[in-house]
This record gives sequence, structure tokens and C-alpha cells, in this order.
Amino acid sequence: MSQPTATVPLGDDAQHLVDEFERLSPFVNGGWDHNAWYHPWLLRHVPRPCELALDVGSGGGRFTRELARRAGYVFGLDLSPLTVAVAERLTAQLGGPDNLEFVVGDLHDLELPPATFDCIVTIACLHHLDLDAAYRQLAAALRPGGILLVLDLLRSERPRDVWRELLAWPLARLLQLKHTGRLIEPRARRRAWREHGEDDAQQLTVTEVRALAERALPGAQVRRRLLWRYSLVWQKP
Ligand SMILES: C[S@@+](CC[C@H](N)C(=O)[O-])C[C@H]1O[C@@H](n2cnc3c(N)ncnc32)[C@H](O)[C@@H]1O
Repeated sequence: MSQPTATVPLGDDAQHLVDEFERLSPFVNGGWDHNAWYHPWLLRHVPRPCELALDVGSGGGRFTRELARRAGYVFGLDLSPLTVAVAERLTAQLGGPDNLEFVVGDLHDLELPPATFDCIVTIACLHHLDLDAAYRQLAAALRPGGILLVLDLLRSERPRDVWRELLAWPLARLLQLKHTGRLIEPRARRRAWREHGEDDAQQLTVTEVRALAERALPGAQVRRRLLWRYSLVWQKP
């Protein structure tokens, strides 16, 4: 990947997900969402210096662009050609940065170059993949000393997580209002993401994530986050 590649062929089994994210692409606008609330925290964990970084499942590229301000060069990888087109358009509209490149490809089918990246970040993407295989694949692509940062969706463990849910709902509404000027998102956008959520069958609980991480990424720090997410930080030995 150090040689820029425009497109990586997609595997057949990825077609359903591609269709799903193509359907969502009109709602990708690079604006604020629950993931963005955690961007400053993620950016604080990017190693310095960071020559080469990868954002897996880069979507509209909001975080990819933020990462590019901390890194020499960044690749944003995404399964959906339409979403990559949106990311490129938004980047052009914003006037850069230009030390980044969006690539269409399925992480499942991609052979990432070994021991290459100083930092790999993935946000709200890995719940679509075989998590154990993805952790191992991303770990192999990091340089020794490189950092893997994951922010992803989580299934609540009830009744233990009920109090978190009670706190999360009003907080999410207030943050939404503060960052977008709306208490709730437009109806069409809500419907599209709700339907997508019904397809998100693979969400794990934090206990399941910790068990997987312990095997694939020994020593990883996994934290339960309030807004229905977990974060993971791992430094490759
Ligand atoms: C919910 S979006 C999150 C986008 C972005 N990371 C963000 O925080 O806004 C998940 C993204 O992951 C991409 N994706 C899903 N499976 C993928 C795979 N196997 N390889 C690469 N990208 C994938 C989707 O196309 C989609 O754009």
C-alpha cells in the first residue's frame, strides 16, 4: 500500500455490505455523530511521529482528514465506492489535506503489507467483520511499536448496563443539539441508520470483545464507552 493503489477488487461475499453502505452514502456528510465525540481522545493516542497511518472503514473521511493533520501520509480504506467518492468530494470541498488517499477495498480480501503502518485506526467498522481475524490482520500490518486504535459498536449487557443506557440517551440528545443544532436527526437519516442497525447482527458485548482481544492483542486496553461503544488501544511489541 505504500505505492498508492486506486482500487482493490472486492470479494463476492462483500456485495451485500457494499449495497448497504451505498444506500447509506447520501446520508454521509462528514458531520458530527456519536463517533466524532471520541475523535479527540483517539487523536491523543496517535503516536508521534507517525509517518504512515491507515483508517479502515473510513466512511466520509472526517476522521481520516483529522488523522492526516497528525501523520505524514494516511490511507483511508473503505468497501463502498460511493462512500469513497463522497469522502474524496468532501476532502476537495474542504481544500484538503492532501497527504491522504482513499482506497476502495474489503479488509477481508486485502493483503496489507506486513509491519508497515505506525498507526491503524478503525471506527464503527469492525463489527461487520470477523473480529478475531481483523485484529490479527491489523496487528500484522503495524510496525513494531505501532498503535492500533479501535472504536466500535457494542451490545449492552443487561441488567448491568441499564444505568449506562439511562445516562447515554439524554447525553446523546444534548450532544446532538450542541453539535448539529437539532435534538434529533432528520427522519430519513434516522430510518436509514435504524434499518442498517437491524442488519448489525455481529455486535459483541464488552466481555466478548475483551476475551477476543486478550488472545489476538495481548495487553490491549479495552474500555466500555458511554455512547454504545468500546475503545481499544494496543501497542505492538
Ligand atoms: C458506520 S461506517 C463508519 C465510517 C467512519 N469510520 C466514521 O466513523 O464515520 C462503517 C464503514 O465501514 C466500511 N466497511 C464495512 N466493512 C468493511 C470492510 N470489510 N472493509 C473496508 N471497509 C468496510 C463501510 O463501507 C462504511 O463506510
